[in-house]
Amino acid sequence: MKTETVKIFDTTLRDGEQSPGCSMETEEKIRMGLQLAKLGVDVIEAGFPMASQGDFEAVRKIASEVEGPSIAGLARATVKDIDRCWEAVKVAAKPRIHTFIATSDLHLKYKLQKTREQVLVDAVNAVKHARQYTADVEFSPEDSTRTDWMFLAEVVEAVIAAGASTVNIPDTVGYTTPEEFYRLIKYLKKNVPNIEQTVLSVHCHNDLGLAVANSLAAIQAGARQVECTVNGIGERAGNASMEEIVMALKVRKEYYGCETKIDSTQIYHSSRLLSLITGVRVQPNKAIVGDNAFAHEAGIHQDGVLKNVLTYEIMTPESVGWAQSKLVLGKHSGRHALRQRLKELSYDLAEDKFEQIFHAFKALADRKKEVFDDDLEVLVFDQREKKQDRYVLKDFQVSSCLDQKAEASIHLAIDGKSVDGKAEADGPVEAAYTVLRQLTGFRGEMTQFKINAITGGADAQGEVSVYLKESKKQVRGIGTHTNIIQASVKAYINALNRLDQYENNIEEGV
Ligand code: KIV
Ligand code: ZN
Repeated sequence: MKTETVKIFDTTLRDGEQSPGCSMETEEKIRMGLQLAKLGVDVIEAGFPMASQGDFEAVRKIASEVEGPSIAGLARATVKDIDRCWEAVKVAAKPRIHTFIATSDLHLKYKLQKTREQVLVDAVNAVKHARQYTADVEFSPEDSTRTDWMFLAEVVEAVIAAGASTVNIPDTVGYTTPEEFYRLIKYLKKNVPNIEQTVLSVHCHNDLGLAVANSLAAIQAGARQVECTVNGIGERAGNASMEEIVMALKVRKEYYGCETKIDSTQIYHSSRLLSLITGVRVQPNKAIVGDNAFAHEAGIHQDGVLKNVLTYEIMTPESVGWAQSKLVLGKHSGRHALRQRLKELSYDLAEDKFEQIFHAFKALADRKKEVFDDDLEVLVFDQREKKQDRYVLKDFQVSSCLDQKAEASIHLAIDGKSVDGKAEADGPVEAAYTVLRQLTGFRGEMTQFKINAITGGADAQGEVSVYLKESKKQVRGIGTHTNIIQASVKAYINALNRLDQYENNIEEGV
């Protein structure tokens, strides 16, 4: 059987970023973008440039710094959005404009207040306008799966005639089922005369837990691009999970007759990196990348695996990069080993930056026996933050004992000036945060506090995420350390610095 290639359009940085708690800073998006390129995705949807100045900058930077995949930006079907999108993506070697408008009667009546005829005209005009900039234009009829099939076919035919090189069929609200979606894709293939002039794509949401199944059904019906995200993050219940689709096509290649260009050994690291950046962990039983994905608990299973792994394992942990991510460095590792590992993680650092990281690495290796990839990622991120920060932690002390108030004192530099403070509270973290509020005058609220162990073992680094909100601004601060109080203090200060650096963006959202 001839094997066909399915393109992977990754929207972790756009639709994925729209999921609660998953917003990312520009630097973080670039880091993730570099990893997506290493993973081998065909297209990175880097953001929605019209949504805010921050989104625009992030898309522009990814377009100029990430090599390999096409870089797409999202745009509503308007001249303003498309112009802005082009401004952001045009520096990429392979820029793509992804424009969309809703086509279901429900959206037309309540959201757009437009007739089908008007939407058809808008869709065609949008594609034509985008085509003046680039031949790589993708069009999405939003809410396709609740759109009248005949009207959908009409829109698809018209946008292809207008020059859409990819037509994407989104299941915007995760409403369809595999069998129905298969029939819809087959229907379009049969009833749109020029369908072979475009790449047919699908974009599935997971509201009924069917996003991956629906995407695979669409591939069987002839779709040759799937839109997905790392760890399945995305609006509401998320998008189709990239790792699940890729591994389903790989493990069941004889069944689907399709393959992707993804280097599957980069999957685990991509998943971990996204979790580190967003602070959102995957559930332990998540397929492919969850902590238990390759854990055999039942004795009978363990026995079978020892006799022949194929008894209970359909793919190896190595095939998705588990073992590779667990390569360790320690306090005896030198510059060469560290540089090599950082290179493998796609960090090619200038000498002075590398030296800073090497010293931080040595300090960490003194406190922690084994230093894993996740620890290194955090070290690199930590070094990046320091320069432009208004608040810098100089020292702190906490004391806490049984049934007594905890006490914290903190020494901070604010705009280079030293300040000290002291406070008491029920626990050491609360005491430290009280001091920080006093010293900085922060009057907003802390909306979330989360603590995770980055790697296993009692000496693991703790990663603390703190969400601070002040008027309309909400930011996430991250702090990591083997001492979790220090991690908590760092996270709060990091959030304060991010609030300070926050640009007032016009958030439009999709
Ligand atoms: O879910 C959706 O319909 C989308 C489109 C913008 C493609 O994200
Ligand atoms: Zn979506």
